[in-house]
Amino acid sequence: MRHAAISGWGMAVPERILSNSDLERMVETSDEWIVSRTGIKERRVVGPGDSTTSLAVAAARQALDRAGLAADQIDLIVVATCTPDQFLVSQACLVQAELGGNAGAFDLGAACSGFVYALSTASQFVQTGCHERVLVIGVDTLTRFVDYTDRTTCILFGDGAGAVVLEATDEPRGLLSTVLGADGAGAKHLYIPGWGAYVPESAALLAEPRPHLQMNGQEVFRFAVRVMGEAAGAAVERAGLTFADIDMLIPHQANARIIDAAARTLDLPRDKVWMNLDRYGNTSAASIPIALHEAEAAGRLREGDNLVLVAFGGGLSWAAGVVRWGTAGVCRDPECRGRGGAATG
Ligand SMILES: CC(C)(COP(=O)(O)OP(=O)(O)OC[C@H]1O[C@@H](n2cnc3c(N)ncnc32)[C@H](O)[C@@H]1OP(=O)(O)O)[C@@H](O)C(=O)NCCC(=O)NCCS
Repeated sequence: MRHAAISGWGMAVPERILSNSDLERMVETSDEWIVSRTGIKERRVVGPGDSTTSLAVAAARQALDRAGLAADQIDLIVVATCTPDQFLVSQACLVQAELGGNAGAFDLGAACSGFVYALSTASQFVQTGCHERVLVIGVDTLTRFVDYTDRTTCILFGDGAGAVVLEATDEPRGLLSTVLGADGAGAKHLYIPGWGAYVPESAALLAEPRPHLQMNGQEVFRFAVRVMGEAAGAAVERAGLTFADIDMLIPHQANARIIDAAARTLDLPRDKVWMNLDRYGNTSAASIPIALHEAEAAGRLREGDNLVLVAFGGGLSWAAGVVRWGTAGVCRDPECRGRGGAATG
């Protein structure tokens, strides 16, 4: 059977840092409250020169370099985002315009679960033999939609991008299992109102220059703790493994208390759980690929390691998968790494 190994990875965050002490000067909050309730110490926030496109392109270039590929060797670009720079055209086409090449390009929207949804979708193009090399990007600039007078949400979010390259291999590498789920009835607990083709009749919403993210924190918290454990457990079972076989949990970085609760449910020791939300906050679809990149850079991912990726977010949605890390069996010969963009399946 063909598999889709992760052969390249990269990340990008804006330079501007928004610390808890900065937030203390903006809303009634404290570093102590934010750290104890969320684990977040600072986050990166887009400035005037940054965009969803610029972050996605920077992460993608790193991932391509690491894979040793040029953009015109990529067959398909899938971008997971809920904050595209524009609706027409897709974020993926904006990224492709910067990178070059003629890869197929489309966006996928599943909010903070988006990267795992996109990884699952993209892997299937490789597993079925339709494509050889696919670029998957998770990127969001949610701070553009954050209300910096609302202390219950403005402390949580940061901006960033992460990317991976998938390549075909006959060895069991890349995604071994996937669990995707959603509960649309819970959409009201985490959303951005009036941002889309539907024109709301509410004069108040129409008058607002840019809508703000709305969230019921306690509902999302309860939902997250439940689905993280359930989805991760189901993904491990579907891969034919047990948690004793798992080397690292790479969860969506939303709240340290949510991650700790999920790890307890799964009986995973703290040193097998990757957490970097203290420095980035919740970067939505970017959080898992950024975490993957940093775990690898820290020397924590080795060839053949079994990783569990698990995410939750707006939708409400959730997604989990077991990834076997490494590039065994990926052909490095230029002969088998031809030009991308043409339909092969
Ligand atoms: C938002 C969240 C951190 C709030 O933490 P919490 O422990 O649930 O806190 P509560 O909402 O119960 O609020 C407790 C008190 O702190 C206050 N509070 C809320 N935000 C505060 C802040 N930034 N600083 C200080 N106090 C704050 C509340 O007003 C409330 O005060 P009250 O008791 O006087 O009414 C938490 O619910 C959460 O992380 N939920 C999940 C959100 C998430 O992950 N969203 C993204 C999903 S992808």
